Amino acid sequence: MAEDKLIKHRFHGRRKGKPLTSYRQSLLDKDFIENYKITSLHNLVNENNENWLEIGFGNGEFLSAMCQARPNIHFIGCEPFVNGIAALLASLEKTVGNLKIWDDNARHLIDALPDASIDRIYLLNPDPWPKTRHHKRRFVQDDSLDDMARILKPNGQFIMSTDVSNLANWMHEHTWNHPAFSWTAKSQDDWLIPPDDWPLDKTRYMKKALGGETIYWLKFQRK
Ligand SMILES: C[S@@+](CC[C@H](N)C(=O)[O-])C[C@H]1O[C@@H](n2cnc3c(N)ncnc32)[C@H](O)[C@@H]1O
Repeated sequence: MAEDKLIKHRFHGRRKGKPLTSYRQSLLDKDFIENYKITSLHNLVNENNENWLEIGFGNGEFLSAMCQARPNIHFIGCEPFVNGIAALLASLEKTVGNLKIWDDNARHLIDALPDASIDRIYLLNPDPWPKTRHHKRRFVQDDSLDDMARILKPNGQFIMSTDVSNLANWMHEHTWNHPAFSWTAKSQDDWLIPPDDWPLDKTRYMKKALGGETIYWLKFQRK
């Protein structure tokens, strides 16, 4: 990969947290490697089914619920935080065949995905980077929107959430102004309503959110 892209696509989060239990470590050492880890950036999508991508799945509550409930959808989850990957694997009732995990920066995986290959992208509660000088670290930027527009199929969905109003405004404004996306709001309070098939109450991150009770939902579509 060109060096300028590696620098531009720098990941600012953490990759490791508290020491893992031996059970969770064994999930990473065996289950993850044998069943889920993406090791090559070729043939990432399933040509016969829909392909849904989650960027920054955290502990994977949403991805776990969705991939078990929808065996006919091929899911790709991106998360560099290994404790989160272990939490996702621990939550699966049995091995699933419709999930692959990229344990690194989503930007690199997105660069490798073919044009118009993804049916849905979820970006749930991305890091808010509240300080103005850190806003350039926010996931939603004009260039990441260009990349997501490229990989989404026509009418593909781009679903975001956050409990941080300033970030909700940022994500809404950038995506609204991007020529490839349209906002699918059906009512004035659409930004308070989860997607129709939202499978959970709240993710752990949503429950401990410091910014208040409100979760803002932004549901966009690729034109
Ligand atoms: C605030 S947490 C939210 C986790 C989860 N989506 C939820 O709602 O509970 C943001 C997550 O995004 C991940 N993340 C941040 N930048 C990322 C990137 N460039 N690629 C993949 N994951 C990223 C972080 O490691 C972190 O786990």
